[in-house]
Amino acid sequence: MSKNILFLPGDGIGPEIMETARRVMEWFNDKRSLGMNIIDDQIGGAAYEKYGTPLAAETLKKALEVDAVIMGAVGGPKWANISYDKRPEAGLLEIRKKMGLFANLRPAMVFDALIDASTMKPEVVRGLDIMILRELTGGVYFGEPRGIFDIGGGERKGINTQVYTTAEIRRAARVAFELARQRSNRVCSCEKSNVMESGILWREEVIKLHAEEYGDVELSHMYADACAMQLLRNPRQFDVILTDNLFGDILSDEASMLTGSIGMLPSASLGDVDEKGRRRAMYEPIHGSAPDIAGRDLANPIATILSAGMMFRYSFGWVNEADMLELAVRNVLDAGVRTIDIAAPGEKPVGTKAMGDAVISALAKLS
Ligand code: IPM
Ligand code: MG
Repeated sequence: MSKNILFLPGDGIGPEIMETARRVMEWFNDKRSLGMNIIDDQIGGAAYEKYGTPLAAETLKKALEVDAVIMGAVGGPKWANISYDKRPEAGLLEIRKKMGLFANLRPAMVFDALIDASTMKPEVVRGLDIMILRELTGGVYFGEPRGIFDIGGGERKGINTQVYTTAEIRRAARVAFELARQRSNRVCSCEKSNVMESGILWREEVIKLHAEEYGDVELSHMYADACAMQLLRNPRQFDVILTDNLFGDILSDEASMLTGSIGMLPSASLGDVDEKGRRRAMYEPIHGSAPDIAGRDLANPIATILSAGMMFRYSFGWVNEADMLELAVRNVLDAGVRTIDIAAPGEKPVGTKAMGDAVISALAKLS
């Protein structure tokens, strides 16, 4: 049963970290006969250079046909001044929207070996394991009206709109409740229902769905600003955090730093099951394209490698291989192999490629 995987490196450090993920996937193909068939294409600034648009129609077509998409990162100063709809980020938002990837799973867990890489006190973050469920295709990222408008007298106004419907809230909340059941069975839903109608609706719909179908899951609510504070004060109180597109973007960056480095965190973006019975999905590290270190063999590829692991788990049901890959990463960290972002002062870091090599040898040892 071969799997077609659309492979989109993107910009900045994207190509380097994705090359490492490719080698890990090839290792599984060779040693486990998994039959992953990689289809190469581009997104973001790289696609703009190639096709004149950050997401070409033919690329989107492939994305809708394959079994899964894996992506590096998009964006960079080179494309900062082109029109908004041609910016690299617009390509990423479009592929999320057109694939219908409404549920973005962003796990944040602390590896014991990296406790000291966190700027937080060890006793606050040790054993941390939270899952942020970020709604990904609605809210202020896509709401209309939007734009920058002349209002006369040399004045302009910028508008974005936060919109959520019952259906959008319920389908995201459903994923959060289902995830919680497989974890510690707790969901904390975050919005700003103290100032936003969309937040009031969010809270009401989550409460309703909970009462109808998920009464066994422990549900709590928090204002998003309080959640940002509690993530620093006592992050281990959380199991699954359910939140909207914008708050989820911010809270997941914050949560990443609890773990030591944003270079460690993978993500899965899931949609509905399509007409062929496949659940649309895209996997990507949560970090950006880091143009300042691009092309220098400095980036940490672990977030991307772990994203491939999430693809094994969530798209293909290859639980053993996903576990094995996570264990290999854990063993590499236990052995003290560090890229520069997670190296302690005085520790000699390895590069992107060497980190990839280390994960592959750790896999070989496990098999
Ligand atoms: C993320 C990123 C994106 C977002 C950008 C690159 C458009 O920050 O995936 O978290 O805001 O969603
Ligand atoms: Mg972000």
